[in-house]
Amino acid sequence: MRKSVQIKVCLLGSSGVGKSSLLKRFVVNEFEENEQTTLGAAYQDKNFEYKGNTYKFQIWDTAGQEKYAPLAQMYYRDAKVAILVYDITSKDSYATLKEWHRELCDKGPKDLITCVVGNKCDLEDKEEVDSNTARNYAKSIDGLFGLTSAKENRGVNELFMKICDVYEKTAVDSSQVTRPKGNTLDPSAKPGAGKGGCPC
Ligand code: GTP
Ligand code: MG
Repeated sequence: MRKSVQIKVCLLGSSGVGKSSLLKRFVVNEFEENEQTTLGAAYQDKNFEYKGNTYKFQIWDTAGQEKYAPLAQMYYRDAKVAILVYDITSKDSYATLKEWHRELCDKGPKDLITCVVGNKCDLEDKEEVDSNTARNYAKSIDGLFGLTSAKENRGVNELFMKICDVYEKTAVDSSQVTRPKGNTLDPSAKPGAGKGGCPC
């Protein structure tokens, strides 16, 4: 039977990593070289058809500028998914992503699905963050990992497909009394791993 599932998502990461561009690519399949910086936060939704089900993504795009950081909590506190974005050409943005993860461990909702996303993968020649390092980090926090280019439309729909798959798995797990804590992206994950075993 077809299902319709609502998923609240929060995009987090430094200013300029491409959060709004990823959202624009996903929602209207467009890209702007001169995307304006986000003030406060922005919201968009999209119905996404996947494996015969409809996923209603409600996506909060937070502003990456430091001065807006205290507002982020309003957007992630009841989110199901946090997409933590870094720019593959910026080590600093990767360090900030880790800070966001630490904050989510402290103050974020239980059982948040976390995605680590390296955007601007079209600029591979300027890469400052090794993708294997970022992939291993994502694994260590029980998170999903993806490389994207909002500019060239690479990896964006795939990211949301992965989220749907994990969401389904998490929903099934929730109906089990002995479900492990955390995002359980890894089928071999042990109970207590993930959020409960937050490495930060
Ligand atoms: P804040 O709103 O300030 O937090 O920034 P943001 O993370 O929303 O970044 P935004 O989407 O505004 O993008 C910043 C700049 O990066 C813009 O000039 C975009 O055109 C550019 N950009 C975004 N995604 C990509 C990408 O995949 N590749 C390249 N080359 N540029 C990108
Ligand atoms: Mg923005």
